[in-house]
Amino acid sequence: MSLLAETQSIVKQFEFTDDDVNKSVREFLRQMDEGLEKDGTSLSQIPTYVTGVPTGQEKGLYMAVDLGGTNFRVCSVKLNGDTTFNITSDKVAVPKELMVAEKAEDLFAFLALQIKKFLEKHHGDHFEAHIRRRMTVSSPDGYRDEHAFRMGFTFSFPVQQVGINKGTLIRWTKGFDIPDAVGKDVCALLQTEIDKLHLPVKVAALVNDTVGTLMAHSYGAPGSHGAVLGAIFGTGTNGAYLEKLSNLKKPLVGEYDSSTGNMVINIEWGSFDNQLNVLPNTPWDVALDKETPNPGIQMYEKRVSGMFLGELLRLVINDLMKNPKVSLFRDENSSTNDRRSTTDIAETSGIWRPWGIDTSILSHAAGDHTPKLSVLRDTLQETLQISAPAYEDAQAFKAIAEAIGRRAARLAAVAIGAVVLKSGRLSDPCHANDPVDVGVDGSLVENYPYFEDMIYEALRVIDGIGEEGAKRIRIGLAQDGSGVGAALIALVAAGMEKNAPPAEILGELRTEAKATVATTAVSDESDKVEAPQTA
Ligand code: GLC
Repeated sequence: MSLLAETQSIVKQFEFTDDDVNKSVREFLRQMDEGLEKDGTSLSQIPTYVTGVPTGQEKGLYMAVDLGGTNFRVCSVKLNGDTTFNITSDKVAVPKELMVAEKAEDLFAFLALQIKKFLEKHHGDHFEAHIRRRMTVSSPDGYRDEHAFRMGFTFSFPVQQVGINKGTLIRWTKGFDIPDAVGKDVCALLQTEIDKLHLPVKVAALVNDTVGTLMAHSYGAPGSHGAVLGAIFGTGTNGAYLEKLSNLKKPLVGEYDSSTGNMVINIEWGSFDNQLNVLPNTPWDVALDKETPNPGIQMYEKRVSGMFLGELLRLVINDLMKNPKVSLFRDENSSTNDRRSTTDIAETSGIWRPWGIDTSILSHAAGDHTPKLSVLRDTLQETLQISAPAYEDAQAFKAIAEAIGRRAARLAAVAIGAVVLKSGRLSDPCHANDPVDVGVDGSLVENYPYFEDMIYEALRVIDGIGEEGAKRIRIGLAQDGSGVGAALIALVAAGMEKNAPPAEILGELRTEAKATVATTAVSDESDKVEAPQTA
């Protein structure tokens, strides 16, 4: 069999037809309802205790930190109350050994230390004022709670929330594995380490990145009546939406404001259909799942998100290279290679190593439209040390990469489509003809060429959405969801505190902080973000 024919047969196995899309949407809706009724289901449908989405008029200075996967980000966010904000942020890579540390304390102490460094660097005045106060005030903590920055903690792992700033870790995902932390309150773990360093910071809110994305998109999209969904398609994938409290049948243990009649739900859709009722399951999906620390879990995420697509591609390519009937990255001699050389793969190439291919190569493959795929061939040479790859090799590589990317986008449309249908917005006469806003963030939607177009293509075939419905769905990048969104939730949480800081103290804190922000914002103009104005 020729390489072309073999490639086509693999591509076929990654097809996800219109019928598959519709069947999966129905199953997604069923699993969403199941998750609202009881615990222990595939879709966790986690109540977040956030009961509304912002209007864009919120004001104030808040801190936000984000532990999402590879990086830890610390920011301070000034919400200007007119849908714009100023953000100052620093980012560090999380050391690999801390992702699998023995004790939770090791990781959380590292996080607290980054917060300290950030305060010293960007909010020196406030920090020093706090140290002065500690020396003069004889309270056991050394500072008055009112003077603390309220901080939103974006922690993008499945957490069983029991309040706006309380939640126990259900399980780790995305390569983290610190068993000691499972079952513990992650806010308390962070607050303990913050207190050990005597920092003037209070963890006011626990935020999933999708919830932050939903909040940030609602803040920055005036007139949209709030986004219906905040979704991440990055290292992992997940979504959060606003659900009617009356549909939430599971018991809620913590306190919340019930006046809005709604609550934001963190779907944890990475675990959609772990039982594989509808998800596609090629031999390479099976092999990939076996390689992960959590086989049988996050089965949707393993077919959709950035952490896994590169590895999926690597597994397919390795199988194809082992196939004696075809020759991929292998030439008889230089005459069969259009670069007049012979292809060679270095022993150190990531192609031989599990997790050795970064998902970004899928974007390079999909984005190369040069006649002889020279861009992709150069990338293969540079990033995977495959020297002189032939045109046919690059063609096969591109076709397989695109098939994996396309299936991921169509699966992404399943989740988006299901949540849009669940929101009822398309058929709500009060919103007739209004756009239906979906805020998205993450490396795949940002970088993978045509990812969004492929999502729309699949949305159009979903029963109940169709051509007309898809036109109303407005997918937009939610800028800085984890920073702005977390700050917005910290604001909501500060309002809910029983002993909320008296207005004059907040005023004092804000004046102090405003001065600091003014200086830092001037020093880095690129950080001033105008939220997108919508038509
Ligand atoms: C994983 C996490 C989830 C997070 C998503 C995107 O699926 O379990 O909490 O929202 O990644 O970062």
